[in-house]
Order: sequence, then C-alpha cells, then structure tokens
Amino acid sequence: MTAQLNPRGDVAVLVPAGGSGVRLGPGAPKALRPLGGEPLLVHAVRRMAAAPSVRSIVVAAPAAELLAVRALLASVAPVTVVPGGATRQESVAAALAAVPAGPEIVLVHDAARALAPAALVESVAAAVRSGRDAVIPVLPVVDTVKEVSGDDLVLGTVDRATLRAVQTPQGFRRRVLVAAHAAAVDPLTDDAGLVEKLGVPVACVPGSEYALKITRPFDLSLAEHLLASADA
Ligand code: CTP
Ligand code: MG
Repeated sequence: MTAQLNPRGDVAVLVPAGGSGVRLGPGAPKALRPLGGEPLLVHAVRRMAAAPSVRSIVVAAPAAELLAVRALLASVAPVTVVPGGATRQESVAAALAAVPAGPEIVLVHDAARALAPAALVESVAAAVRSGRDAVIPVLPVVDTVKEVSGDDLVLGTVDRATLRAVQTPQGFRRRVLVAAHAAAVDPLTDDAGLVEKLGVPVACVPGSEYALKITRPFDLSLAEHLLASADA
C-alpha cells in the first residue's frame, strides 16, 4: 500500500536525508540530530506534509537507520522510507524510483532545510503547475563575492547582482526530473543542475530565510533561535 496524504494533491516530495553530517561534527546522521528536541527530519517532513498540494512523501534515509526512521515518522505523516545512497544524487534517485503513480509534480527537499515553510512548497508547486518544467527558490546574494586562487589570492570580483543563492524545495515536472536523473553522469549538489544539463529552462521564485540549510553548528544554533521565536 502506498502512503498518501491529500489524495487530491498533485505533488510528491522527495526528501534526501541519507547524509552523515560531517560538517556538523561527530554524532548521529544529520537528519536525526535534534532541533528543539525533535530530529531535523521530523521538522522537515511535518512542514512538507502541511502543504495542501502534497499527496505523497518519499524519504531517503541513512541505510543503517531505515527502521528507526520509519518508526520515527510513523506518527508524523504517512511517508515511504527507502535506503539512501552514497551521494545526495543517488539518494534522490532512490526516492524518485519509489514515487507512486499519480503526482505529476515532484519536489526535492533537503532534510537539512528543516524549517522550510509549507508556503514555500506551495509557491514552488504553483510555478510548476503554471507551466514551468523546473523551479528553484532563490535569495539574492548579500555579501560581496570574490573569485580566489588556490593560494588565497583574489582573482576578481563577481557581479553580485546576477547571483542567487539556491534553496530547496526545487520543483519539477515529473518526466523532466526522471529524464534528468537518467542522463546524470557526475554527482551535482542540486537537481536543477541536472535539468540545466538537459538544456531545459529553470525558473526562479523567491526563497525563504527559514529555508536555510543547516550545515555547520552555527546554522543549528540559528535554527534553534528561529524555532524558539515561534514563527518558524
Ligand atoms: N544526503 C543524502 N544522501 C547522501 C548525502 C546527503 O540524502 N549520501 C542529503 C542530506 O541528508 C541532506 C541533503 O542531502 O538532507 C543535503 O546534503 P548536506 O547538507 O551536504 O548533508 P550531509 O551530506 O549530511 O552533510 P555533510 O556534507 O556535512 O556530511
Ligand atoms: Mg553533504
């Protein structure tokens, strides 16, 4: 039986959660680290499940934690949990292979962006629904950006006005994401990158500060503060 949320929803969300969290320091796999007393993955899945368009969620978990993750999420939302792979891209491919028939829009959302709001899911999905093949949430880059050499000498200043910091959830027409993963050669850090290689246009929508990626200990502290401020 396939786990289902809103049966009228047209969106499946893939949640790559199979990483170990090396940059966060020693401890459990990142998706299982606590934020406000609950694992990052629980926060991420709860917010995805709260989006009315979402019909199914597939989580790619650390292979050694498969049963623990199933047990953990059983009380959060009806989700399918599959073993993740050695890279993020392999984890996404494993989750994509497990998406049930039905949803024609597929979103990919990092468990590490635990506080991404349901409203962001809806705005990305709406852009795909309106005809885009691929949609990414982005924020302007606020810092001045330099290109540097291997020995830390500045090579030049990049025009920040043309740059965007990219978040998840990223949204795709299902057949486009399937084609992009089928054609993938080298591992990339996001799925839109694979779609770009097919020559398919990727559209931007406004991202959310709350969709920050929890990578280093400082990010986890920041997320704790956002959560405690009650509007995350
Ligand atoms: N991810 C995954 N499978 C992997 C590696 C990463 O599903 N083999 C997931 C992570 O769980 C995370 C998302 O991809 O939700 C983004 O990756 P990142 O933030 O780099 O997380 P980690 O790889 O866990 O962290 P690190 O790179 O510091 O080890
Ligand atoms: Mg990683």
